[in-house]
Amino acid sequence: MNMVFKRHSVRKFRDEMVSDEMIENLLKAGMQAPSSCNSQPWEFIVVSNSEDKTAISKMHKFAKPAAGASHLIVTLGNLNRAKVIRMIEQDLGACNENILLQATYEGLGAVWLGFHPIEDRTLKLKDYLDIPDYCIPFSVICVGYPAVEGEVKLRYDESKVHFDRF
Ligand SMILES: Cc1cc2nc3c(=O)[nH]c(=O)nc-3n(C[C@H](O)[C@H](O)[C@H](O)COP(=O)(O)O)c2cc1C
Repeated sequence: MNMVFKRHSVRKFRDEMVSDEMIENLLKAGMQAPSSCNSQPWEFIVVSNSEDKTAISKMHKFAKPAAGASHLIVTLGNLNRAKVIRMIEQDLGACNENILLQATYEGLGAVWLGFHPIEDRTLKLKDYLDIPDYCIPFSVICVGYPAVEGEVKLRYDESKVHFDRF
């Protein structure tokens, strides 16, 4: 099955660290994403320290998977690099999905934790990780070896497809 149909969110991880090489592959995949005017407005903070992962897992009630992950990839949108600032969320969205698909390809599990645009979440992350004002803390991607085999349900729904006109 190709990676798009195999990918699913993984929130429980084995106690095993992912190699630097694999993390770099995820970052390469992220940076390969399409972006408006090819501005590539992303930056990443890779977090592997237990204390930091635990602190991030407490930043909102759906962030708990961060505590047990091998690494966190914090994705940021750099407003100074973005050529079309209003497109930055879409640029980062494409980047995030690429990272998740590469994680699947590497045999890893991952989950995207939402931060932007919920201000109380992004402020906590900004403060904790010393993120400068010209960067938007977009998301935290938890990465690790999955603790259990996940199951994927196919979602194709014909009723959502319109030909020629709505
Ligand atoms: C923008 C966005 C924010 C998300 N935030 C969270 C989150 O904070 N915590 C979490 O456990 N999952 C989060 N997810 C994962 C979704 O819950 C998940 O993708 C969805 O339930 C579909 O399941 P699947 O990824 O297994 O296909 C987020 C996904 C997206 C795209």
